[in-house]
Parts: sequence; structure tokens; C-alpha cells
Amino acid sequence: PVGAPDKALAKKVTKVGIIGAGLMASQFALLFVRRLQVPVLITDLDQARVDKGVAYIHDEIGKLEAKGRLDGDTANKLRSLVTGTTDKSLYADCDFVIEAVFEEVGVKQQVFGEIEKIIAEDAILATNTSSLSVEEIGSKLDHPERLVGFHFFNPVAVMPLIEIVKTSTTTEAALSTAFVVAKGLGKNAVLTADAPGFVVNRLLAKVMGEAARAVYEGTPVADVEKAFGPLGLPMGPFQLIDLVGWKVAAHVQDTMVAHFPERFYANENFHALADLDQVVEKDKGGRVTGFTKAADKLVKQVAGN
Ligand code: 3HC
Repeated sequence: PVGAPDKALAKKVTKVGIIGAGLMASQFALLFVRRLQVPVLITDLDQARVDKGVAYIHDEIGKLEAKGRLDGDTANKLRSLVTGTTDKSLYADCDFVIEAVFEEVGVKQQVFGEIEKIIAEDAILATNTSSLSVEEIGSKLDHPERLVGFHFFNPVAVMPLIEIVKTSTTTEAALSTAFVVAKGLGKNAVLTADAPGFVVNRLLAKVMGEAARAVYEGTPVADVEKAFGPLGLPMGPFQLIDLVGWKVAAHVQDTMVAHFPERFYANENFHALADLDQVVEKDKGGRVTGFTKAADKLVKQVAGN
């Protein structure tokens, strides 16, 4: 058990680096500029991906301006704080660098390996992994003690939680910085053990997996959704899968199956979300934009079996 970290140990964050410019990364890049008002760099494999991420952020700032949530000067200031680049050398003076790249341990190790050569020795590293071992992600670092898990939820602007994950070596300074940053972002942080799925995804994986299983057993998707209504959840399981992305949801499911086969039905040769993901992936490159379309496909697929 760990007590509340000592805030005095937190490092002042004056520039944030974000590795990855996908939807999740772009969402929290926006949150960093909006709440901390510090320069934020985002990077990705190529300029097209970077440009897409920056365009999303600019677009969201424009929407906030149109809603009257930001005045024109502030909106322009926030836009000017965001830099999209493929030049990783610009990360040299970032004091907090968070990654949101593909959910694969090797990929995350590789990007951190590259960035560690560039950043200062006392810069804090954070991973937005949704279910992988933070300890393993950091195991190839020269200084794994500076790595902390920092897991956002979708939609980042609205969901009030961040899971902060401590490994066996994470320093109090890294942990404390993570808590102070989370507070600065206006989020509630919980400290979780470095166990697969942390807290939230181990529960969600169950809900999503069982919902998919119900569909395989013959209940229409729409009825599964309706059945969840009285539980008071803001979204049914399939709508939630669509929100986080089928690929992400399937990946979390696979991670849980791999670690807890007895709890996640691996023995019955049933990898629900991975199977459902493939149904969708054929047409959509892994990302579904319309819940109804996805639901229709699933119902047809099940009917055809
Ligand atoms: N981006 C930014 N803002 C959004 C948004 C989005 N995608 N979706 C909704 N919002 C904002 C709206 O602008 C609105 O803000 P306002 O009140 O300031 O104008 C506010 O959220 C409420 O939106 P709505 O009234 O349109 O919609 P709802 O009341 O139906 O709420 C919801 C939408 C907040 C998404 C709600 O349905 C919800 O909480 N759903 C559950 C989400 C959830 O469980 N997320 C966790 C997913 S798991 C995960 O991410 C982990 C990963 O590792 C898998």
C-alpha cells in the first residue's frame, strides 16, 4: 500500500511531450494546453498523422470558442501552444512526456528508448497504456524509476478519472508529479496496482466480453443495450465499445484473456471481442464510426453462423 505522495516532491511541468497523435493522444494534448497552459509537442510516425492530430485539436478549440467557452485571445493562445512535429529532438526540454502509441509492449519500449536518449535525466515519463504492464514497458529504460502509468478515459475532456500506476521502481517524485499533473488537468486520480487492466478495464473487459457473448448466444445487440439501461450506466456495452474503438476494446480483452484465462473464457476458445472486431475490421480498418452499422453487422454475422 502506498500513502498519498508528498506534493513537495512534484517536478514543475513547463513543457509536455506527447508521443502519438491519434484520437486519444490528441484529446489529452488538448486537455494539457487547456488546463496547464504550457507548450505541448505531439509527434507521430509521419507528418500526415501529426497534421491530423493538430487539426483535431484546432477544431476542438474552435468548437469551444463557438460555444463561448473560450474567448478569441485564449483560443489563439492555446493553438499557439500546440506544436506538431516529427522531429523528436524538440522533446529535449520537455519535463513530462506521455506516450499513447500502439498497445504493444515492444512498440512502447522502442519509443521510450528513443525519447530517453533525448530528454533530461530527471524528466518524467508516463504511459497511457490501458492494460499492459507498466513495469514491463519500462524494463528497457536506463532509468525505469521515472516511469509512471497515467491512464485516461474516453472522452478525455469529460471523464473525470485518471488511473496512476506505480511500478516497483517508480520514484516518489515521478508519482507525486503524476498526481499534481492530474489535479492540474482537473481530474481525480486513483493509484492502482500494476496489474493487467488496472481497475477500470478489468471490469469493463468483463462487461464488454459478456455482452458480446450474449450476442453470440442469440440476443440481438439492441436488446443487450436495452437490458443495460436500467442499471443506470450512461452507455450500453456496445456503444461503449464503439466509443473507445473496437480495436482498443479487443486488445484489452485479449490482454485479460492472456493473463486470466480462467476468468475470461480462453479455455472455451471464445475470444469474443477479437472475433467481433474482425467482423468489423473487414470494412472499416478496425475503427467503427457508427454504432448502428456495427450492431447490424454483428446481428447478421451471428445469424449467419
Ligand atoms: N469529446 C469531448 N466532449 C464530449 C464528447 C467527446 N467525445 N462526448 C461528449 N462530450 C461532452 C459534451 O460536449 C457535453 O459537454 P457540455 O455539457 O459541456 O456541453 C458533455 O460531454 C455531455 O455530453 P452529452 O450531453 O452530449 O452526452 P451524454 O450526457 O450522453 O454524455 C458521455 C456523454 C459523457 C460520453 C456519457 O455517455 C458517458 O459517460 N459514457 C461512458 C463513457 C465511459 O465509460 N468511458 C470510459 C471508456 S473506457 C476507456 O476509455 C479506457 C480505455 O483504456 C479502453
